[in-house]
Amino acid sequence: MLKWLVLLTILALVSAEIQRIKIHKNKDHKNTHRNRKQAIQALKYKYHQTDDLVIYEDGAPVYVQPDYGNDYPSQDTNDYTTEELGNSMNMYYYGEIAIGTPPQYFNVVFDTGSANLWIPSAQCLITDVACQQHNQYNSSASSTFVSNTVSINGLSITNQTFGEAVSQPGNSFTDVAFDGILGMAFQQIAEDNVVPPFFNLYMQGLIDEPVFGFYLDRNGSSEEGGQLALGGTDQNLIDGEMTYVEVSEQGYWQFGVNNITWNGTVVSSGCQAIADTGTSLIACPPTSYAQINSLIGAVLIQGDYYVPCATVNSLPVLTFNIGGTNFDLPPSVYIQTYTDDSYTTCMSTFTYIGTDFWILGDVFLGQYYSEFDFGQNRVGFANLA
Ligand SMILES: *[C@@H]1O[C@H](CO)[C@@H](O)[C@H](O)[C@H]1NC(C)=O
Ligand SMILES: *[C@@H]1O[C@H](CO)[C@@H](O)[C@H](O)[C@H]1NC(C)=O
Ligand SMILES: *[C@@H]1O[C@H](CO)[C@@H](O)[C@H](O)[C@H]1NC(C)=O
Ligand SMILES: *[C@@H]1O[C@H](CO)[C@@H](O)[C@H](O)[C@H]1NC(C)=O
Ligand SMILES: *[C@@H]1O[C@H](CO)[C@@H](O)[C@H](O)[C@H]1NC(C)=O
Repeated sequence: MLKWLVLLTILALVSAEIQRIKIHKNKDHKNTHRNRKQAIQALKYKYHQTDDLVIYEDGAPVYVQPDYGNDYPSQDTNDYTTEELGNSMNMYYYGEIAIGTPPQYFNVVFDTGSANLWIPSAQCLITDVACQQHNQYNSSASSTFVSNTVSINGLSITNQTFGEAVSQPGNSFTDVAFDGILGMAFQQIAEDNVVPPFFNLYMQGLIDEPVFGFYLDRNGSSEEGGQLALGGTDQNLIDGEMTYVEVSEQGYWQFGVNNITWNGTVVSSGCQAIADTGTSLIACPPTSYAQINSLIGAVLIQGDYYVPCATVNSLPVLTFNIGGTNFDLPPSVYIQTYTDDSYTTCMSTFTYIGTDFWILGDVFLGQYYSEFDFGQNRVGFANLA
């Protein structure tokens, strides 16, 4: 009897094991104005936003309409089948997956802000430099979506449907170390209502719990970009308790934030936010965008907010109260240094792309461990160990 109990306990322990996947960070990441503009434009495109913001300063309208260049196609809200596959030179986190037999390998960004798996197609044009630079998938199928075995960390998902991206917008996708995107949000926002890979991973019994966790290493090398845990969270990477908050709307990983405060001033209260590992910046709703940038002493120049570099270290932290716990962002994190032609400027990471909710990208997520739990419909944050 005891022997069986011991055996059962061991089996339970073995089967409850989580999968740890090393994620990498692009080593060529550079903070330049151009890259930042690309990041913002990629974010607008991803969130299907087209509107520009009008801010009133001393009663006069100031249009926040930065010149993004011609790197992106015009917005067509009805056609997102050629999903944007990221922006070059900005910070992103990726890992390897395999598709088909024999396996073809692809580096994908693990993106909690979308819900499809996209891989460049072998059918892309020979003139499409971005596509030609990357590993391509050749299904010889005529539709955008195809199905095959997709393996993550040796776990093989049978019949996973994914998109073959025939074209990528502009040069956003040239010179990047990743090939595609693996969306980890809810099926509700998936193109073609395709079942997302993580969901199939769980439904096919390859992991025990429909939970994954992210540790994004801000300081790591390209080889050490952090860790994605599948089937649970890695307790070794956490210090103290995880704070949970319910997912308020299934689509993105969206949740309510009690309030956001800066030096005693409430910037926002009772607002909505989403956790998006696939972006680096923080996007704010319009009123908070203007207020927080004004509080930190940022000056609007041609659509971008600049902060005098000398003041950065003396600024207070920005505090997000999520699920009753305060999560701080220090000024060294919410203000980033950009270098163009050896000219250094400091810019606010608080951007606006047209959403009425906050988008917490890697600037926020890199400070904490984040857990995404489909089973209990919740998101969790904890201090890093
Ligand atoms: C894709 O595979 C088919 C069948 O093997 C082949 O005829 C075709 O040339 C390939 N296409 C590309 C672009 O590699
Ligand atoms: C594979 O998935 C597609 C799309 O979900 C479905 O139509 C098809 O029946 C599945 N095939 C198998 C063998 O499960
Ligand atoms: C990154 O390194 C800096 C300097 O060594 C340190 O102050 C900071 O806490 C580190 N950040 C993280 C998230 O570990
Ligand atoms: C923070 O608040 C204190 C007290 O109101 C004030 O003295 C200080 O100037 C504020 N700091 C900044 C950077 O605004
Ligand atoms: C922020 O929300 C928390 C939790 O509801 C609350 O305890 C705190 O008083 C709020 N802070 C402010 C400044 O409103």
